[in-house]
Amino acid sequence: MPRIVVLASGRGSLLQALIDSPIRSHIVAVGSDVADAKALVRASAAGIDTFVVPVGPDRRAWNVELTGALSSLAPDLTVCAGFMRVIDSDVIAGLTGPIINSHPALLPAFPGAHAVNDALAYGAKVTGCTVHVVDAGVDTGPVIAQQPVGILGDDDEASLHERIKQVERVLLVDVVEKFVERGLSVNGRSVSFG
Ligand code: GAR
Repeated sequence: MPRIVVLASGRGSLLQALIDSPIRSHIVAVGSDVADAKALVRASAAGIDTFVVPVGPDRRAWNVELTGALSSLAPDLTVCAGFMRVIDSDVIAGLTGPIINSHPALLPAFPGAHAVNDALAYGAKVTGCTVHVVDAGVDTGPVIAQQPVGILGDDDEASLHERIKQVERVLLVDVVEKFVERGLSVNGRSVSFG
């Protein structure tokens, strides 16, 4: 039975989609860098253990603490679902299983923390969401799955982000369900289930 840890910094609507799916039984803990993240409230309400690793001035200490918290949970899969911190390569190296991230744009377009606004500001007509393997870069890891979302003439950041998240929740649940059923193989930039 694969063990899944979810990391989230904010509202946690992606987490809620995982909780509301059959994936729930695999989630062993939810972690955050933000002590009062709504995601932690959602996890507790679902009876899932939570942990917080707050970011302080010492980035290396944060890496060590996050690595310790994750390795004690021994996840087969770690899911960044609205986790707004870059995961350093030494944290990734300490994990036993893959770590994946959901991003609100069609990578490699619009990486980083302001993807929705960046797509609007660019004047793009289509954006979307990407689930990808996390590597040492910022949103640069191999793509697992993507879905497009059209940008409407009257969209602002909030309306566009909400439409992206409607698609993103379905995509993330689908990817994690496939991982649970078949596992994940990563070969360079090529990713497949099974
Ligand atoms: C999601 O759109 C996710 O892709 C994004 O934060 C949102 C979380 O929503 N993550 C990033 O931008 C990471 N760079 P939620 O808090 O409602 O789940």
